[in-house]
Amino acid sequence: MTLHHQLRNLLLPTLFMLLMVLAGCNKAAKTAQYKIGFSQCVGSDLWRRNMLDEMKMELSLHPDAHFIYADADNSSKKQIEQVKQMLDEGIDLLIISPNEAQPLTGIVEQTYNRGIPVIIIDRKTSSDLYTAYVGADNYQIGKMAGEYIGSNLRGRGNIIEVMGLPGSSPAIERHRGFTDALAKFKNIQIKAQVYGDWLKDHAQIQLNLVQQDLKTADALFAHNDVMANGSREVLNNMHLSHHVKVLGVDAMPGVGGGLQMVASKTIDASLVYPTGGKEAITTAFRILNKEAFAKENILQSLVIDSSNVRLMKMQWSKINSQQKDIERQQSLLEEQRQVYNSQQLILNIIVITLVLAIVFGGLAFYWLMENRKINRSLEVKNNEILSQRNQLMEMSARAEVATEAKLNFFTNISHEFRTPLTLILSPVEDMMENEKLNSIAGKNLKLIHKNIFRLLRLVNQLIDYRKIEYDKQQINAAPNNLVDFVTDIQESFRHNARKRNISLNLISSEKNINVWFDANMLDKVFFNLLSNSLKFTKDNGRIQITFTQNTQNVEIAIQDNGIGMEPEEAEHIFDQFYQVDNDNARGSGLGLSLSKEIVLLHHGTIKVSSKKWQGTIFTITLPLGNPYNYNVQPGKLIDTTGIGERSRIYTNDLEQSEIKTETTAIGNPKEQSILIIEDNADLLIYLADKLGTVYEVFTANNGVHGLAEAFEKVPDLIISDVVLPGMSGKVITENLKTDIRTSHIPVILLTAQASVEQQIDGIGSMADVYMVKPFNYNQLLATVKNLLKNRMILKEHFTSDVSHGQTPVSKSLDKKFLNDFAGIVEQNLANENFNVDDICKTIGISRVQLYRKVKALLGCSITDYILNRRLKKAKYLLNNEGYSISEITYMVGFSSPNYFSTVFKARYNCTPSEFKRKQTS
Ligand code: FRU
Repeated sequence: MTLHHQLRNLLLPTLFMLLMVLAGCNKAAKTAQYKIGFSQCVGSDLWRRNMLDEMKMELSLHPDAHFIYADADNSSKKQIEQVKQMLDEGIDLLIISPNEAQPLTGIVEQTYNRGIPVIIIDRKTSSDLYTAYVGADNYQIGKMAGEYIGSNLRGRGNIIEVMGLPGSSPAIERHRGFTDALAKFKNIQIKAQVYGDWLKDHAQIQLNLVQQDLKTADALFAHNDVMANGSREVLNNMHLSHHVKVLGVDAMPGVGGGLQMVASKTIDASLVYPTGGKEAITTAFRILNKEAFAKENILQSLVIDSSNVRLMKMQWSKINSQQKDIERQQSLLEEQRQVYNSQQLILNIIVITLVLAIVFGGLAFYWLMENRKINRSLEVKNNEILSQRNQLMEMSARAEVATEAKLNFFTNISHEFRTPLTLILSPVEDMMENEKLNSIAGKNLKLIHKNIFRLLRLVNQLIDYRKIEYDKQQINAAPNNLVDFVTDIQESFRHNARKRNISLNLISSEKNINVWFDANMLDKVFFNLLSNSLKFTKDNGRIQITFTQNTQNVEIAIQDNGIGMEPEEAEHIFDQFYQVDNDNARGSGLGLSLSKEIVLLHHGTIKVSSKKWQGTIFTITLPLGNPYNYNVQPGKLIDTTGIGERSRIYTNDLEQSEIKTETTAIGNPKEQSILIIEDNADLLIYLADKLGTVYEVFTANNGVHGLAEAFEKVPDLIISDVVLPGMSGKVITENLKTDIRTSHIPVILLTAQASVEQQIDGIGSMADVYMVKPFNYNQLLATVKNLLKNRMILKEHFTSDVSHGQTPVSKSLDKKFLNDFAGIVEQNLANENFNVDDICKTIGISRVQLYRKVKALLGCSITDYILNRRLKKAKYLLNNEGYSISEITYMVGFSSPNYFSTVFKARYNCTPSEFKRKQTS
């Protein structure tokens, strides 16, 4: 597993975990546990504000809850809409103080029936379908008011009742309780009853309408303190002579509240009517938390008047200050909670950071360790590489010294060669001019002459190469006409080209192309390229030299339609000492490499493009003018007479020996035949000439052709070069030795590869003999004779008795062939129509091949062999079985007993019957 993967495997789960923790924190902070809706009939008066404050105070203990509040502003219609909206929003519980009982009953029932708990507070609906009720007993309040007034007036007087909103349950119930209480007092009369709708101004309007009744009134009961206050104002405005007692409901503490009104004697008494806000919220949570709760939560009331108002106020202010304390503590608590939350968050972040730090720290440590390990191994490798590099440098320095020494040696030797070669050349040329000698040894003299030039060329190339490569020879350039120069060189090849009917043309649009070059060097390039083209172009071919000039360069293309090269061959053609594996006709491997160096010295380029069997183009590009500031040698002209002389070492080598490309049997038909496969025409001709005096000779100048000839002619022996164009001698041998048609033919491989390993390799290739060049002809001839003689010994063995199981034939293929051949003959001895074609068909080779193979292995013709086997079998039958002569005649495939008798007698000097008699007697 890679570090990258390990990191990913560690980090991803960690990050995921952290996200989950953070998400968890957010969730706890934001998600409300319950949604509680509160629908208030009116929210603007003191009593209702207190109710809301109480609720909020209680809710602060439940921070999870979500509280939705709506004020219907004394409108039942609006209240219905608001409840509907709450239901749509989705609430868990509804608290409602219905404006009027009847109109709100429907929506409350609907809510309840949906399974949403409903708490009715203060005012009621007309139905029992609610979950819980919180509020004081309004009937009881009305009754307490009636009783209080009754006893205060001592059972006598006139009373005015100012009622709340008609249809609202407290107004109905308070009125009922009030009238029920007053019924006990016979002398008390309710003079007037008006609806003040719970509001001060409405009450005042209504009271002003009953002023007459007010004049005689002794007491007034208003259903709440707000209306009681308004009533007092109306009474005051009337300036009555007597005091009218005013009684209200609510007794709210605080500014403008009923308690203050009683204390300031604005009103005479008030009945405590608790808002129930706190109780409503506690009940709500009991319901939501599925705890026990009471359906009817009735709150207590009492009368506040001058006798207890002070105590009530004191208690209230005490409660108020406690309330404030609670509020302060709550806000402190809230602050603490926030601090706690933020600390929790910080803690979480710290924990996460710590975990990450540990993870990353671990990884960093691991990487550090890994890095150290890698560094250590790199250091070791580095040291190894350094020491290897040093060794290599040492070796290369030593190799350079050795190469230098070798090259010096070669150069010196090459120089040494020149003198003896020249000394051989002159006498040979003298001898060639001598007609007498020419007629005796002309052919050999020509061969010697040609090869002296070849050696001279090689020696010169070695020296030139050495000069350029190691002495960094500078060129002595002078401006000359390149077209004339190349034309002269081309002319020296003209004779050779004409002889072989090769068209040799030079095409140039310009007659004069002035280029700076060193004639003594550049000529080698063109000599080389042209002699190559001629060497690899077949008779009747075409060679063309084309000049193309542009503003900066001149391009000289030498194109032939010769044998061309394979791409890999062309790629290496300029490499030093490069030789194609199976083609020694390419030369020393120095010529083209040298040419390239010379062209580079002229700041030019040389390229080759070639296609096998289609031809080759060498393109040289040389710069025009003297852009490289060669030493100016004015007036130095080209020595054109020298060109002809210099060209000799290139053109002489091209002189082809008289060789036909087709294989030829040279000389008269001889008993035994030899196939020579050799691409060096001189050597081929030499060997063919020499061996032709003793054997029938076939020749081939490339591998493919040689192999085809071997199959067609089935010679008695094959001499082949190892390095050949088309197919190597080793491959040819392998093919021959693994084919039943030719497996018996002895093969001699000739090679210039002289190392022991190469010789062992050659012998391993199934060749019978491996001879290293230069070889001695007599040794070769002796080897040929020896191999053919061995073949004869084998033949004698085979012919003595083919059916004999033990044969010394080491070559299993030949053994198999002989077994098959003998088997077929044995099976067909009785068949008088049996002939050679039958055997050819069965074995699968041609008549000639069969004939040659049988002759080579058994030394007799096929028919002789068959006849021999028939007679031998006849002899055996005559000897051992009791058949008659005529029976035996047909058993051994003779057409008539007479003919059998004649043949038998010719072989054994007695007739079959005489033979049988001799045996039995
Ligand atoms: C406030 C109020 C109180 C009264 C109650 C009856 O809106 O008028 O004064 O006691 O409502 O529902």
